[in-house]
Amino acid sequence: MADLATLGLYGLGTMGSALALNILDNGFALHVANRTATVTNEFVEEAGPLAAKLSAHDSLEAMARAMPKPRAIILMVPAGGPVDSAIEELCAILEPGDAIIDAGNTDFHDTRRRTALVEGRGLTFIGMGVSGGEEGARNGPSIMVGGTPAAFEGIRPVIEAISAKFNGEPCADHLGPDGAGHFVKTVHNGIEYADMQMIAEAYGLMRYGQGMTPAAIGAQFEAWDKGALKSYLVEISGIVLQAVDKQTGGPAVDVIVDRAGQKGTGRWTAIEALKLGQSASAIEAAVGARSWSAEKSTRVLGESILKTPLLSVDLAVEDYENALLAARIIAYAQGFRILAAASDEYQWNLDFARIAEIWRAGCIIRSALLDDISAAFRGELPAGQLVFAPAFAERLQAALPALRRVTAAAITGGHPVPAFSAALAWIDSMARGRGTTDLVQAQRDFFGMHGFERIDGPAGCHGPWWD
Ligand SMILES: NC(=O)c1ccc[n+]([C@@H]2O[C@H](COP(=O)([O-])OP(=O)(O)OC[C@H]3O[C@@H](n4cnc5c(N)ncnc54)[C@H](OP(=O)(O)O)[C@@H]3O)[C@@H](O)[C@H]2O)c1
Repeated sequence: MADLATLGLYGLGTMGSALALNILDNGFALHVANRTATVTNEFVEEAGPLAAKLSAHDSLEAMARAMPKPRAIILMVPAGGPVDSAIEELCAILEPGDAIIDAGNTDFHDTRRRTALVEGRGLTFIGMGVSGGEEGARNGPSIMVGGTPAAFEGIRPVIEAISAKFNGEPCADHLGPDGAGHFVKTVHNGIEYADMQMIAEAYGLMRYGQGMTPAAIGAQFEAWDKGALKSYLVEISGIVLQAVDKQTGGPAVDVIVDRAGQKGTGRWTAIEALKLGQSASAIEAAVGARSWSAEKSTRVLGESILKTPLLSVDLAVEDYENALLAARIIAYAQGFRILAAASDEYQWNLDFARIAEIWRAGCIIRSALLDDISAAFRGELPAGQLVFAPAFAERLQAALPALRRVTAAAITGGHPVPAFSAALAWIDSMARGRGTTDLVQAQRDFFGMHGFERIDGPAGCHGPWWD
């Protein structure tokens, strides 16, 4: 695809309309369409003066047929069937040189399948992860692109222009072939799940163990956002916890049902980690915690039947800050381990430093740590492990005692901290040259004749259990 004479966008929902306005704002002409045509009309009105560069159409087909070639059509519709249907429709209309760009939160396996399908028909396919929610899509998201490099070159000017900038550098890049962009976005979301859960665990302990008010905890988050924990998620948590509900006059969080939703990307991260022989324990714990939260009536019943006491805790407030820092480092490290495993499996040759760089602005997990993470990946990294990079090993050594104190106090007091404890279990496992799976291997050999490797060399040995 040589140039982008025409750009189209299908799907004017939350993300699509924000992305479309961003594209127009950056001076690019744009064709748009939406399944429900009235939404398109509303969008044109909303665009105001930006509508001058806008061509609105009644349907995807009408848009594709009206666009001069070469065409690049961004799909911003729910992942799954709607993407397949749109691709099917477009494949019948588009011609070699045209491109289809799926910008939704798609499972990378689907992207790999669709890449083969679309490119088999002589068209180009790009799987593009977009992070930053509505605000990011409107003003500059972080963009993770997968597909053939040549295909990306054709849309690079637009993608870079609309993306977030960190020190003037675009937070957007081509990361690898076919599903690489969507996979990196999926793992980004997995890390996001873990970070959100860990922040919520700290909040829970400070509130129900330490007796602090949401406003006081929010003020603490606000203060932490000026230090090592500086990040979008800590920032918004500070704002949310200090917000007051207009109806009750009490804390806004208190009127929210404690049942978390999920759309799948966290779960996909955990599933793919396990399939790749990894275990991203903090991410898995966060996914599980959301599932448990959805069992509201069971939990209410459990409280009346189990009657476990909820004890108060008394920790220095800095302990929470350091616990969050240690746990955040571990969540990022686990995310990058999954990326490394997938990069090997699918021969994507992912550039981890670059991924950390494009997460530094625009996306939900943007944080002060990411600059240091990209530096760590560009420097000496023993065994490729982020937690072994000198800068991070030192930080962990300083912050882990606090994570232990917070986790221990929570467990003793009956406060659930699944992500904190899972993060700790992983780092403690990585910090022991000899663990306890010698016994697991012995058990496997005992009941299944699976054999084991002896410390003095040979593999396939059996124990003396039956002698
Ligand atoms: N919201 C976020 O923060 C966020 C962040 C990153 C990525 N994403 C991803 O971006 C994609 C779009 O999300 P969104 O939040 O913008 O969703 P949304 O607000 O619900 O909008 C969905 C859009 O898709 C259209 N649509 C729904 N079902 C369709 C179908 N069967 N065929 C054709 N069009 C259909 C809708 O058209 P109608 O007007 O006709 O209903 C609407 O334009 C998803 O993959 C999502 O996971 C979302």
